[in-house]
Amino acid sequence: MSWGDRVAIITGGAAGIGHASARRFARKGAKVVIADIDQAAGKDACEEIVSNGGQAIFVGCDVGERLDIHNLIAATLEAYDRIDVLVNCAGVFGSGDFLSLDESDFDKVMRVNLKGTFLAGQAVARQMIQQIEREGRVTESGRTYSIINMSSVSAVLALPDRVPYTVSKGAVNQLTKAMALSLAEHGIRVNAIGPGAINTHLAGDEPAEGASRETILSRTPLGRIGDPEEVAGVAVFLASPEASYITGQCIYADGGRLALNYVIEKK
Ligand SMILES: NC(=O)c1ccc[n+]([C@@H]2O[C@H](COP(=O)([O-])OP(=O)(O)OC[C@H]3O[C@@H](n4cnc5c(N)ncnc54)[C@H](O)[C@@H]3O)[C@@H](O)[C@H]2O)c1
Repeated sequence: MSWGDRVAIITGGAAGIGHASARRFARKGAKVVIADIDQAAGKDACEEIVSNGGQAIFVGCDVGERLDIHNLIAATLEAYDRIDVLVNCAGVFGSGDFLSLDESDFDKVMRVNLKGTFLAGQAVARQMIQQIEREGRVTESGRTYSIINMSSVSAVLALPDRVPYTVSKGAVNQLTKAMALSLAEHGIRVNAIGPGAINTHLAGDEPAEGASRETILSRTPLGRIGDPEEVAGVAVFLASPEASYITGQCIYADGGRLALNYVIEKK
């Protein structure tokens, strides 16, 4: 089985970690489907991959809408006829203190980060099972099917002013385990990645600068903010045959954040 035979859907693939993952899978030779709510950025990301010799299509998609997910699967099958990998990267940030948080702000974050991961994961898993029934068990066909959910260190560490985000990522970890158990009998592996602070535009227009950057560095043993490529590399590993015995795990790409139990002094 080579990467050239494999089709990878990356939700949230128009920007940040998803875009880096789409690039990485395309560089390996996989056929990539970028699914994102941002049509302009999604088309640009797709064109960039194609202009560098990769294979990619863009599908406009709101992961919180079941019909959009249905159309995403249909468009993927029409273009490439199969699905081997799903990276659930679409996500939104949600700040707001517990006591003052609006119900609508809670729902907005849960809808994308949790429900979107569930909807895309379920639809893709159903398609993968059809392929397995058609082509034989995974080991017999030499294929490896992999679903990767984007979690966060926030699944473990709570902040009172990030209630919906923290809750959504904790739930993504549990969803990952439940999916892994449910899909193990089919040979489909499901894992999560828990990034620490990564240099993207997730939490605002500009990546962390000034005081907020200093705060992040004071909690990051490796002493720097991570690059989206460093998360994308973990996604490619988890989707590869090298990870063939790994399922139900969350791998934290966090510069040592979760191991730390003190504040690093500024040098
Ligand atoms: N950047 C970090 O420090 C960090 C840390 C931990 C976890 N994460 C997680 O990584 C994932 C990617 O985040 P990022 O930092 O690359 O952010 P980003 O904002 O750069 O990219 C997120 C992408 O998701 C898309 N998106 C948002 N809502 C969508 C929807 N409803 N349907 C489809 N697409 C939608 C956006 O258009 C965007 O292209 C998220 O799940 C995030 O929670 C990021």
